[in-house]
Amino acid sequence: KKYNVAVVGATGLVGQKVLEVLEEQNFPVDNLYPLASSRSAGKEVSFNGKNWVVEELTDTSFERDIHIAIFSAGGGTSLKYAPIAAKNNVVVVDNSSAWRMDPQVPLVVPEVNPEDLKNHKNIIANPNCSTIQAVVALKPLHEAYKIKRIVYSTYQAVSGSGVKGFKDLEEGVQGKVNQFYPHQIAYNCIPHIDVFLDNGYTKEEMKMIEETRKILHEPALAITATTVRVPVYYGHSESVNLEFENSFDLKDIRPLLENAPGIVVQDDVANNIYPLARNAEGKNEVFVGRIRRDESVSSGLNIWVVADNIRKGAATNAVQIAELLIQNNLISR
Ligand code: A2P
Repeated sequence: KKYNVAVVGATGLVGQKVLEVLEEQNFPVDNLYPLASSRSAGKEVSFNGKNWVVEELTDTSFERDIHIAIFSAGGGTSLKYAPIAAKNNVVVVDNSSAWRMDPQVPLVVPEVNPEDLKNHKNIIANPNCSTIQAVVALKPLHEAYKIKRIVYSTYQAVSGSGVKGFKDLEEGVQGKVNQFYPHQIAYNCIPHIDVFLDNGYTKEEMKMIEETRKILHEPALAITATTVRVPVYYGHSESVNLEFENSFDLKDIRPLLENAPGIVVQDDVANNIYPLARNAEGKNEVFVGRIRRDESVSSGLNIWVVADNIRKGAATNAVQIAELLIQNNLISR
C-alpha cells in the first residue's frame, strides 16, 4: 500500500530534509503534496525523480485523499492548520512546538515512547530538537538505574533557527551585521534561544525540561537546562549530567548505550574520539561519548550527546513517526 503525503513547509530547511529522508527511507509515497506560503506557490520540488508543484497552504488544502501531513512551517501555521487537517482525517506529524504539551497530543520519539502513538487524535507532535537527541540517550539509562536529576547544557547549531539563523552566521563571518539573533553569532556563544520567560529561563530551556518529563512519563523529574546558540551550522551538542536513584558500574554503561536503538557510541579518548557536530552532520543516529562518572555525587554520570538537529532532531524523527503510524495501522483513512 502507498500513501498520499503532504509536506507543509516543503520549501523550508526542515521541509526539504523531510523530502530527502522520505526518499532515502523509501517511504511508500503515492502522491506528494508540497505546501508552503503563497510566496512559494508554483515553485517545484523534486522527489523520487519527479517534479512536484508547490501549492499555497489554505483552509481547503486537506479536503482530499491525504493520509499523512508532516508540518514544518512554524507554530502559528500548525496552530491554525493542524486541526483543519485532523478534522479531514489526515494524521498530522507536527514539528512545531504548538501542540507538544497538549495532553491529547502524543509527543513521540520512536526509540523511547512508541506506545504513546496508540490513542492519537490525528495530531502527533515531534519534540524539540535538543530534547529528541537527549531522550534517546537517556532511555536505556533511565530503565536501568532510574534517573533522579538531569542537568542539560547545550551547544546548538544555527540551522535550528531555519534559513534566517543560517544566514546570520554565513554573513557574520563575512563581517556583516546580524539580522536575526539579538547579538552577533559569528565567533560568539549566545545563552539565549527562543524568548525569555518570567522564571528567567528561556522557552527552549523549558521545552527541554517539560518535554523530557512528558516523553519519559516522569512528570516530577528534577531537570534544569541552559541552552546556548553556537556558531555551528549543523549538529547540536549537549553535556548531559545525570544523577541516578540506583548505583551503577561504569563498565556497564557503554554496552547499555550500544545496545539501545538509534545510538552510536564514540568514546575512545586515548585516540581523541568523541562525538562531534561535524561528524554527526548528515547522519540519522544519536552519538554518545565522554562517558564518565560524576565523582561529586554518589551515583552520577556525565555524557556528551551529539546529533544532526535537522535530521534526528526534526525530519528523521518525523519520518520515523510516520513509519510507525503505517506499521501499526494508525492511519485514519
Ligand atoms: P515559504 O518558503 O513559502 O515562506 P524555514 O524555517 O527554513 O524558514 O522554513 C519555513 C517553511 O514554512 C517554509 O517552507 C515556508 O514557506 C513555510 N511557511 C512559513 N509561513 C507559512 C504560512 N503562513 N503558510 C504556509 N507555509 C508557511
